[in-house]
Amino acid sequence: MKHITCIEDLRQVHKRKVPKAFFDYADRGSYSEDTLRANVDDLQAIKFRQRVLVDVSKRDLSTTILGEPAAMPLILAPVGLTGMQYGDGEIHACRAAQAAGIPYTLSTMSCCSIEDVAANVDKPFWFQLYVMKDRGFIKALIERAIAAKCSALVLTVDLQVIGQRHADIKNGMTVPPEWSLSKLVDFASKPAWVAGVLRGKRRTFGNLVGHLKGTDDITALGTWIATQFDTSLNWNDIAWIRSIWPGQLILKGILDVEDAEEAARTGAEALVVSNHGGRQLDGAPSSIEALPEIVDAIGAQMEIMFDGGIRSGQDVMRALALGAKSCMIGRAYIHGLGAFGGPGVDKALDILRNELSVTMGLCGVNTIAEIDDHVLAI
Ligand code: GLV
Repeated sequence: MKHITCIEDLRQVHKRKVPKAFFDYADRGSYSEDTLRANVDDLQAIKFRQRVLVDVSKRDLSTTILGEPAAMPLILAPVGLTGMQYGDGEIHACRAAQAAGIPYTLSTMSCCSIEDVAANVDKPFWFQLYVMKDRGFIKALIERAIAAKCSALVLTVDLQVIGQRHADIKNGMTVPPEWSLSKLVDFASKPAWVAGVLRGKRRTFGNLVGHLKGTDDITALGTWIATQFDTSLNWNDIAWIRSIWPGQLILKGILDVEDAEEAARTGAEALVVSNHGGRQLDGAPSSIEALPEIVDAIGAQMEIMFDGGIRSGQDVMRALALGAKSCMIGRAYIHGLGAFGGPGVDKALDILRNELSVTMGLCGVNTIAEIDDHVLAI
């Protein structure tokens, strides 16, 4: 891996090694992908102040996330179908996060189930929840997360209606993967992927199959979500979730300041400023554009996390400078996983850690707590 020096290098290997349908599922966004691009471009447009002759010999990336010590201000975001990027991908990613001293979030739409992951890692992880129409199933799912000792519940609030991803439709992205002739030609050129995924525990949604009706053959993901996800979900339902889940609650997918104020009134401990990585409302502002106003409005009441467009340690620094306490990464680690499995996730985290540390040094700061808008040239 010595020629891998940045996240884009991992992305290129990911693209080469994983079938197009699954690479595109992770890499692409909704409709014209304007918001996907804006997430990346708006972060990169933010300039730092270069500061010199400051003693930066004691740089320390450690912080706390929801009161727990973390080795750096990063969290692995929930990513659907991680186990289709690499066999047992959820377990590999969770182990890499835990080795790096940061939280891992398991998606409702994962391949490995909550129980599969819990049985194969040492420490608690976070669980991400999508609310579906079958509320009995959702209550049972939360109870499974409690039984597995998950340490936070991340409720995703921006995907009750699904933004169309053209690539998924054009690629015939199906769950489980269909072994059609065109797919077989693609799979034949990716033997390591095939072997890894065949060795993996599951090729479908481990949290759902056997628990929720109609999950044996999902085929088109968007169509299936349209029938299962509860589009009536609203602010009043948060109290119901709180009545079942006793632990820390994080609302993921807030982009508007009025919604952030509403979120603060729910008593949830944290929110994630997010547009779902540009996979949902195309034409929404970038996450970084939305961040400062939300921090101003409710940063004193809730812990503010951030995602959307983080591809470097510089990007992490930019989000922290504008008031985020920590950042979730999705694609940045999935590229590592798709490229090299667990060691690829280790590599992605090393890259981001080193880039953040160097950026802190060149901006003249030693600690995460010191990072604010003074590091920016604005
Ligand atoms: C699901 O969360 C997706 O963005 O595909």
